[in-house]
Amino acid sequence: MAGVLTLIFIISCLNLLLSHRCSSHPLCTNFRAPFTSKTPLSFCQYNGSICCNATEDLKLRNQFKSMNVSVSACASVLKSILCSRCDQFSAELYRIDSAQRTVPVLCNSSISTSSSQSQAKVDYCAEVWDKCHNVSIINSPFALQAKGGIQINSTSKLTELWQSKGAFCDEFGGASDDGATCFTGGPILLNSSENISPPSGICLEKIGKGSYLDMVAHPEGSNRVFLSKQAGKLWLATVPEQGSGEILGIDEPNSFLDLTDKVHADAALGLLGIAFHPNFQQNGRFFASFNCDKVRWPGCSGRCSCNSDVGCDPSNLSSDNGAQPCQYHSVITEFTANSTTLNLSLVTQIRPVEVRRILTMGLPFTSQHGGQILFGPKDRYLYIMMGDGGGSGDPYNFSQNKRSLLGKIMRLT
Ligand SMILES: *[C@@H]1O[C@H](CO)[C@@H](O)[C@H](O)[C@H]1NC(C)=O
Ligand SMILES: *[C@@H]1O[C@H](CO)[C@@H](O)[C@H](O)[C@H]1NC(C)=O
Ligand SMILES: *[C@@H]1O[C@H](CO)[C@@H](O)[C@H](O)[C@H]1NC(C)=O
Ligand SMILES: *[C@@H]1O[C@H](CO)[C@@H](O)[C@H](O)[C@H]1NC(C)=O
Ligand SMILES: *[C@@H]1O[C@H](CO)[C@@H](O)[C@H](O)[C@H]1NC(C)=O
Ligand SMILES: *[C@@H]1O[C@H](CO)[C@@H](O)[C@H](O)[C@H]1NC(C)=O
Ligand SMILES: *[C@@H]1O[C@H](CO)[C@@H](O)[C@H](O)[C@H]1NC(C)=O
Ligand SMILES: *[C@@H]1O[C@H](CO)[C@@H](O)[C@H](O)[C@H]1NC(C)=O
Ligand SMILES: *[C@@H]1O[C@H](CO)[C@@H](O)[C@H](O)[C@H]1NC(C)=O
Ligand SMILES: *[C@@H]1O[C@H](CO)[C@@H](O)[C@H](O)[C@H]1NC(C)=O
Ligand SMILES: *[C@@H]1O[C@H](CO)[C@@H](O)[C@H](O)[C@H]1NC(C)=O
Repeated sequence: MAGVLTLIFIISCLNLLLSHRCSSHPLCTNFRAPFTSKTPLSFCQYNGSICCNATEDLKLRNQFKSMNVSVSACASVLKSILCSRCDQFSAELYRIDSAQRTVPVLCNSSISTSSSQSQAKVDYCAEVWDKCHNVSIINSPFALQAKGGIQINSTSKLTELWQSKGAFCDEFGGASDDGATCFTGGPILLNSSENISPPSGICLEKIGKGSYLDMVAHPEGSNRVFLSKQAGKLWLATVPEQGSGEILGIDEPNSFLDLTDKVHADAALGLLGIAFHPNFQQNGRFFASFNCDKVRWPGCSGRCSCNSDVGCDPSNLSSDNGAQPCQYHSVITEFTANSTTLNLSLVTQIRPVEVRRILTMGLPFTSQHGGQILFGPKDRYLYIMMGDGGGSGDPYNFSQNKRSLLGKIMRLT
C-alpha cells in the first residue's frame, strides 16, 4: 500500500472536517504541500514548513534585484511580498483557486470574526502604498497583476497606475476571512489555540490531472499503481516521491487494459473496481467489476435481479433514463495477466482475455449499483460491494431481502 499512502499525508487541522468554522490550511501555489527544508533559505526569511526550495529562493532574489528599487523602506516591503511565495499558506495568499495573481492579498484593516489569523488586524495594504507609491519599480509585480500580462523591463510607479491609496487597496487589499489568510509582511501566524500540529488532519497533494475512479497499488509493492477510468481503461502509473515536485507518471495513450468495448459507462455506470489477487505476482490473477449493456455486448446477459425468487415482477418495472429494466448488468469477472513475459512486474499491457465469469446480474434501474471489489487483507477472500439497485428509496426492498444480491456486501469463498 506504500504507493497509495504517499498520495495523502497529514498536515492540517481536524477542525477542517468537523466544524463549520474552519481555519486555514497549508498549501503551496503549485498545489503541492509545504515541506520542511533542511537548510535555511538564504534570501527569503522563511523556515520550518515552507513552499520554496533553494532554487526558487535564488529566483526570487534575482527577481528582487532586477526591480532595482532604490528606496530602502519600499525595497524591504517588496522583498517580503515576493517572498510570500515561500509561506506555507501561499496558495491562500495568492487565492490560486480564483485568480492569477502576482501579488498576495494584502491585509486591509477589516477583521473578519471567523479569522484564525492572529495578525489580520494590520492594514498592510496601506503600509505598502505609503512606502512605495512614489518609487520607480522595474517589472513591478503590481503592474503585472493589474495589466494581466508580461511587461519586459518597464518601469512604473504605483501613482501612475492608481490615483489613490483607496484605489490601490481596492485592487490588492483584502481581509482574512473564512478559511483564507491575507499578507501582513511576514510568515502567517495562526492564533495559538488553532496551531496546526500534525498528524490531526489531511492535506492533499495534487500530483496529476484527470479523473480516475479507482486506484489500486501494484501488488509488487512498489510505487506503481493502477488507475482506472469509468469508461473502461486501466493504466499503470508511477507515483512520484512526496515533495519531489514531479507529477504522476502515466502513459495516457498506452493503457494496461482496455475494456471499453465491453463496458457501458454513463453517469452512474462503468468500470467500477479492480482487485488483484494476493498472489498476483505468482498467478497473474486479477478481477474487474463493471457494467455492461446487453444490447451492445453479447457477453452481457444474466438473470434480471427483479425476479420471482425475490418477490419482484419484472413487468412492474418501467424504463429508467431511456433504458429497459435489466438492459444493464453488473459483471464481476476474472482476467489473467499471464503472457509470454514470465516476470509480471515487466508486463505493461495485457489483452483482456476473460478467464472466469463470477457474476452477471441484470439491474432494475440505472443508478446506485456500488461496484467496488476488494480482497480482505487478512482473510484474502474477494469482497463484492453491490448497491441497492436504484429507484428512489429501494422501492422493491431489495436490500432487506436476503434472497436478493442487491444492497449486499458479498464474500466469495
Ligand atoms: C524560524 O526562525 C525564527 C527566527 O528567525 C525562530 O524564532 C524560529 O524558531 C525558527 N523556526 C524554526 C521552525 O526553525
Ligand atoms: C525546486 O522546485 C522546483 C519546482 O518548484 C523544481 O523544479 C526544482 O528542481 C527544485 N530544486 C531543487 C534543488 O530541489
Ligand atoms: C537602477 O537604479 C539606479 C539609481 O537608482 C540607476 O542609476 C540605474 O540605472 C538603475 N538600473 C537599471 C537597470 O535601471
Ligand atoms: C485571532 O486573533 C485575532 C487577533 O488577536 C482576533 O481578532 C481573532 O478574533 C482571533 N480569531 C479567532 C478565531 O480566535
Ligand atoms: C515623487 O518623486 C518625485 C521624484 O521622483 C518627486 O519630485 C516628488 O516630489 C515625489 N512626490 C511625493 C508625493 O513624494
Ligand atoms: C532586461 O534587463 C536585464 C537587466 O538589465 C537585461 O539583462 C535584459 O536583457 C533585459 N531584457 C530585455 C528584453 O530588454
Ligand atoms: C478590506 O477588504 C475587504 C475584502 O476585499 C473589503 O470587503 C473591505 O471593504 C476592505 N476594507 C477596507 C477598510 O478597505
Ligand atoms: C498464470 O501462470 C502461472 C504460472 O505459470 C500459473 O500457475 C497460473 O495458473 C496462471 N494463471 C492463469 C489465470 O492462467
Ligand atoms: C406489481 O404489479 C401487480 C399486478 O399488476 C400489482 O398488484 C402490484 O401492486 C405491483 N407492485 C408494485 C410494487 O408496483
Ligand atoms: C521482475 O522485474 C523487476 C523489475 O525489473 C525486478 O525488480 C524483479 O527482481 C524481477 N523479479 C524476478 C522474479 O525476476
Ligand atoms: C418495503 O418495506 C416497507 C417498510 O417495511 C413497506 O412499507 C413497503 O410496502 C415495502 N415495499 C414492498 C414493495 O414490499
